[in-house]
Amino acid sequence: MNTERLEEIKKQALEEHIPIIMDDTLAVITEKIQKEKKNLDTILEIGTAVGYSAICFTKLLAPNGRIDTIERDEERIAKAKENIRSVGVENQIRIYEGDAVEILPTLEQKYDMVFIDAAKGKYPLFFQEACRMLKKDGIIFADNVLYKGYVRSDYNKHKQRTAVRNLREFLAEIENKEIYQSEVLEVGDGLAIIQLRRN
Ligand SMILES: C[S@@+](CC[C@H](N)C(=O)[O-])C[C@H]1O[C@@H](n2cnc3c(N)ncnc32)[C@H](O)[C@@H]1O
Repeated sequence: MNTERLEEIKKQALEEHIPIIMDDTLAVITEKIQKEKKNLDTILEIGTAVGYSAICFTKLLAPNGRIDTIERDEERIAKAKENIRSVGVENQIRIYEGDAVEILPTLEQKYDMVFIDAAKGKYPLFFQEACRMLKKDGIIFADNVLYKGYVRSDYNKHKQRTAVRNLREFLAEIENKEIYQSEVLEVGDGLAIIQLRRN
């Protein structure tokens, strides 16, 4: 991988105010995977933006491992393709173009890891689909779940009300200890880590 180019992609995304994964969030995910799971065969990402996190996640893949990532914004898709190619990881990342709400139900594959990083109002739905596609012993990460502190405060302003309400619903769901083993870390804008308990 061309790591100098990766740094340029990060710098450009930050300059253009494109929301990409924060360094400390990426570090937590990397450490968790390396500690528990070693190399992954399949990763699903919901929310590609310009491809930065997907490119970073290729470092977590086993040889021949693959990342599927979903993005609906055409300009970002074009930039992601360019970025992925320029770093030399185009054989490891497949972009699904369109709305994840429509694409997810069509996916039949199973994944070792799912990274949820798209529309906050859709987290309950994304999570339900992630669970359906998760391999036994798989792991789900959901970013930005505390949403600037709104989610765990009494925030009730109109503009983000649906997103906040649905994030609260998502956090309440993963609290179900009989089904999930979960934690929410105050890293970045809040990172949820979930594994399924299976009998
Ligand atoms: C926070 S950014 C993703 C950042 C990226 N994961 C990274 O760290 O480099 C969220 C992206 O999700 C996309 N998005 C939001 N809702 C979506 C949906 N329903 N389907 C597909 N993409 C969506 C947005 O267009 C945006 O580019």
